[in-house]
Amino acid sequence: MRAITIPEPGGPERLVWAEVPDPVPAAGEVLVEVAATAVNRADLLQRQGFYDPPPGSSPYPGLECAGRIAALGPGVAGWAVGDEVCALLAGGGYAQRVAVPVGQLLPVPKGLTPQQAAALPEVACTVWSNVFQVAHLRPGETVLLHGGASGIGTMAIQLAKAVGARVAVTAGGPEKLARCAELGADLLIDYRRQDFVAELAALGGADVILDIIGAKYLERNVEALAVNGRLVVIGLQGGAKAEVNLSTLLARRAALVATNLRGRPLGEKAAIVAAVREHVWPLVEAGVVRPVVDRVLPIAEAAEAHRVVEAGAQVGKVVLEVPAGTG
Ligand SMILES: NC(=O)c1ccc[n+]([C@@H]2O[C@H](COP(=O)([O-])OP(=O)(O)OC[C@H]3O[C@@H](n4cnc5c(N)ncnc54)[C@H](OP(=O)(O)O)[C@@H]3O)[C@@H](O)[C@H]2O)c1
Repeated sequence: MRAITIPEPGGPERLVWAEVPDPVPAAGEVLVEVAATAVNRADLLQRQGFYDPPPGSSPYPGLECAGRIAALGPGVAGWAVGDEVCALLAGGGYAQRVAVPVGQLLPVPKGLTPQQAAALPEVACTVWSNVFQVAHLRPGETVLLHGGASGIGTMAIQLAKAVGARVAVTAGGPEKLARCAELGADLLIDYRRQDFVAELAALGGADVILDIIGAKYLERNVEALAVNGRLVVIGLQGGAKAEVNLSTLLARRAALVATNLRGRPLGEKAAIVAAVREHVWPLVEAGVVRPVVDRVLPIAEAAEAHRVVEAGAQVGKVVLEVPAGTG
């Protein structure tokens, strides 16, 4: 088969669509013939050599895919060859075939194309696990989503609105904020011009904050929390090390959590995927939550897709189409 390989870490030009050995599904895995995958910011870090795949997982980038089951590994029940699926991956989505633990498979939601389905698993699992399982966002609460126009943000806006929360977002400029408003965001904050702490204070603070910036925002995020607020850090685009004023956290009786999805044990990922199938998939099939696909490019143009995401030129997800066979 072919896959996007990274012979040397570096810029987008390091991504090479090359002939590689086929994966073989182990016990409890299926082989998926990939029709589409999607770019996540983590793929850019992996390409640069800053984010190695967890031990035992595929060396190729790609944290999600959609396609058809081509073969079953030993001991697999409940899935059949030919089933249309999408999947959360620890790697290997940028390829014609990938071996997937059954606990990470989801059916393609009714009415969606493989290109749309490929844009869902990583953001649905990340948002569901952090905003709902960790931070327990409840109807009527206020959530602040940094990077509302990102892949993560576009899913989080829709899910938070679906449960009846008030949604504040940050984004870099009026065009991206307008897209967030279309998805249901209530309070639009241009992080280049506005102070999100003051904006949230006017609403009584944020009950939940989903943060993708890390160190640079830590102090201000803590200040923006309401009493009993929950701050969940999932990205470190603004650095990893910062001081936090514990007295502010203490006065707010607030919680600070940081998580990642890729390195979790199989059982935890399976539990998250099952919860997404139970809670998110019905919303997708009802059209309440939809994949936000900025553009679809052929996988051979993965370098261009990375340039787009690196430049922040997209809203939502950039999807890569994968040709069948060895093309
Ligand atoms: N921990 C986990 O398990 C996990 C899982 C998935 C993703 N993530 C993290 O979640 C983040 C989003 O991932 P993605 O794939 O959805 O990325 P993406 O689509 O490339 O989005 C990156 C976003 O960062 C925003 N941003 C940059 N500087 C900002 C600032 N100063 N204030 C507010 N927003 C800012 C950008 O906003 P503008 O374009 O509007 O400037 C953009 O929307 C990444 O940091 C990723 O590593 C973590």
